[in-house]
Amino acid sequence: MRSTETIKAAYKGTEKHERSEAMAPEWMLHATDMVMQYYLDRELVLDHCVLRKFPKPQDNHRYMLYAHVPFCRTLCSYCTFHRFLFKEYKAREYFINLRKEMTEVHDLGYDFTSMYIGGGTTTVLMDELVKTIELARKLFPSMKEVSCETDPQAMGDPSIKLLKGLVDRMSIGVQSFNDDILRMTERDKFGTAEQVFEYIAKAKEDFPICNVDMMFGFRGQTDEILQHDMDTVLKLLPRQITTYPLMVTSQTRRSVKDKIAAPTSILARQYRIILDTLSKEYTQLSSWAFGQATNEGFDEYVIDNDEYLGIGSGAFSFLGDSLYVNTFSLRRYSERLREGHCGVERKRTFTKPNILRYRLLLSLFAGRLTRKYFRQVHHVSLDRVLFKEMAALKLIGAIKENPDDKDQLIVTDRGKLIGLFMMKDFYSAMDNIRAELRKPLKESDM
Ligand SMILES: C[S@@+](CC[C@H](N)C(=O)[O-])C[C@H]1O[C@@H](n2cnc3c(N)ncnc32)[C@H](O)[C@@H]1O
Ligand code: SF4
Repeated sequence: MRSTETIKAAYKGTEKHERSEAMAPEWMLHATDMVMQYYLDRELVLDHCVLRKFPKPQDNHRYMLYAHVPFCRTLCSYCTFHRFLFKEYKAREYFINLRKEMTEVHDLGYDFTSMYIGGGTTTVLMDELVKTIELARKLFPSMKEVSCETDPQAMGDPSIKLLKGLVDRMSIGVQSFNDDILRMTERDKFGTAEQVFEYIAKAKEDFPICNVDMMFGFRGQTDEILQHDMDTVLKLLPRQITTYPLMVTSQTRRSVKDKIAAPTSILARQYRIILDTLSKEYTQLSSWAFGQATNEGFDEYVIDNDEYLGIGSGAFSFLGDSLYVNTFSLRRYSERLREGHCGVERKRTFTKPNILRYRLLLSLFAGRLTRKYFRQVHHVSLDRVLFKEMAALKLIGAIKENPDDKDQLIVTDRGKLIGLFMMKDFYSAMDNIRAELRKPLKESDM
């Protein structure tokens, strides 16, 4: 064990300075945040748009289906997702509407090869979740992969067996294997670190792909604690691991900042620990996702799917050149479905340069940047249309040419960290949209 002084130094960010500087100096991360903020403030502004139906699918386009389940039995203070406190009658009605919306999307001509059910906690009503996945598999016979999100305790419930054979990938929120961090973040409600470890070991037997969500950037999460978190998850060896930096947004600022969030200056150093530890057994699928070196599987759905359609309250869709956002009110969601309409209430259409910038951000985040993708999918020369962005990324050492392949660019570890910061900013901006759309909600909307 190291001395308290050393731990304090680590916490203040004065230790291992060189290692994190090599990753990216603080001014660079700060500048990344500023540039992202500039674009997001200008571009991520949504227009009112009460849409009756989603646009029809386009020939030869591949779509992913996203379904949102906005209920949890208890709420976590730092959580930035769209969720309400669980009430059974509301949740039952909601699942019925979700299936109705899915059927309508099918009738529009959509087909999907994969489905991502996100939350909230998707397993709050197991029988309803089962019915929903069964319907999805019936409506879309080409559906190959279904992914679900839940908490660790759900793995201890005998009803989890009902999802066997229906869910290919189960993503479980662990966050940390340190009991003090679990207590501080109120995650001890899902069990002690030891119990959570057992839940995950069991989940690995029940589902072909198990993903474990971990988080860093918590107050008091010293380098030792994070190292222990990473070593413990390595012992479990799930097929996938996701390591999120704690994101603080307008929704959670009051409950999280200065209470459970560490200064962002420690993130670069902590990210180094994560990369160094997980790279022993995992390959990197994106800035924050890792897959077992011998396997590959589900990835971040926004990376692998250029276009996705979101059903349910608060779901986002990206179709063609537009982002669509469904109503955050459960009452209005019900009304819209009763009228035979979809839930969309906001829309933003992007210019081609902005779509290309977004794809560049995703490529950096994915750690895979190819000229071929831009040429074949978007019919542009990456170096010409995003000349300034490419020059800046090369200048700061985020990307470099691959001497063995002219089409491929190498995303350096620094580039992955920059990608992680950009994605964090992007998610935070999406969360600010959620906050704005949730603000006018009344008790009857929840
Ligand atoms: C929406 S939750 C769903 C999983 C499940 N409800 C649970 O809590 O275990 C998915 C993941 O989002 C991540 N998450 C939630 N709030 C976050 C935040 N403010 N910053 C970073 N990641 C966050 C957590 O890692 C969590 O496991
Ligand atoms: S972290 Fe999971 S359990 Fe907690 S409020 Fe968010 S979605 Fe619900």
